[in-house]
Amino acid sequence: MSAGLALAGVCAGYGPLPVLHDVDLDVPAGSITAVVGANGAGKTTLLRTVTGQLPAASGSIRMGGRIDLRRVAVEDMVRTGVALVPEGRSVITDLSVDENLRLGGLWRKDRAAAARTLDEVYGHFEPLARRRAAAGHQLSGGERQMLALGRALMAVPQLLLLDEPSLGLAPKVTAGIFTLLRRLCDGTGLTVVLVEQNVRSALAVADHGVVLNLGRVVAARPAADLAADTGLRHTYLGF
Ligand SMILES: Nc1ncnc2c1ncn2[C@@H]1O[C@H](COP(=O)(O)OP(=O)(O)OP(=O)(O)O)[C@@H](O)[C@H]1O
Ligand SMILES: [Mg+2]
Repeated sequence: MSAGLALAGVCAGYGPLPVLHDVDLDVPAGSITAVVGANGAGKTTLLRTVTGQLPAASGSIRMGGRIDLRRVAVEDMVRTGVALVPEGRSVITDLSVDENLRLGGLWRKDRAAAARTLDEVYGHFEPLARRRAAAGHQLSGGERQMLALGRALMAVPQLLLLDEPSLGLAPKVTAGIFTLLRRLCDGTGLTVVLVEQNVRSALAVADHGVVLNLGRVVAARPAADLAADTGLRHTYLGF
């Protein structure tokens, strides 16, 4: 299943502090959009607003054209097809790899289908398949990120949001994760919003790129165009 994401005129913030200003975003179904920008630009705030953890003050947030995500309660997001892999690889360290993954699909009524998804996830992440019984705290940083992503995939999302998945990972591990995202988009029509500080790698895997600065979209273009724009890179991305 495939569903794009569209934001129009979204404003959000924390209490009286506005952070996102009039944000428009168009993420076509089955594509990867990289969202980049300096520290404090509002990238995490954007993901939290889409998932309803932070209510938008105004604007519209729609998935697949029909679903008004502002009307979906945060606890219903996963069921609606939206999965977030938050910053910091939120795995449950006392639970095993297998238990962490199963948690991601616990709400699914079709247990046979959930079991099939579990097999698929292990197929994506060989290191996890080899360490099913290992506790979360025994995993390396890369394995934890795989586990956090695997747990999100257990819900078979239509829209996957990732907050800096490459943080602290070896380039090879990051490349493996990005390649998998590409494969899922091309193969299953998954729609991905990839927030990244690792701008080069993110724009290399993405179809579209969006630059956020002080809570505003300052550029939204094909990823290759953004990567080639040295002026923009110098001004907003520091390289
Ligand atoms: N819980 C919060 N309460 C108040 N202000 C916050 C909160 N979280 C973030 N902010 C503020 O919102 C702005 C945007 O922060 P946000 O975390 O969305 O940026 P970011 O682009 O994800 O940055 P980073 O690259 O450091 O992760 C910053 O000015 C930050 O101080
Ligand atoms: Mg952030």
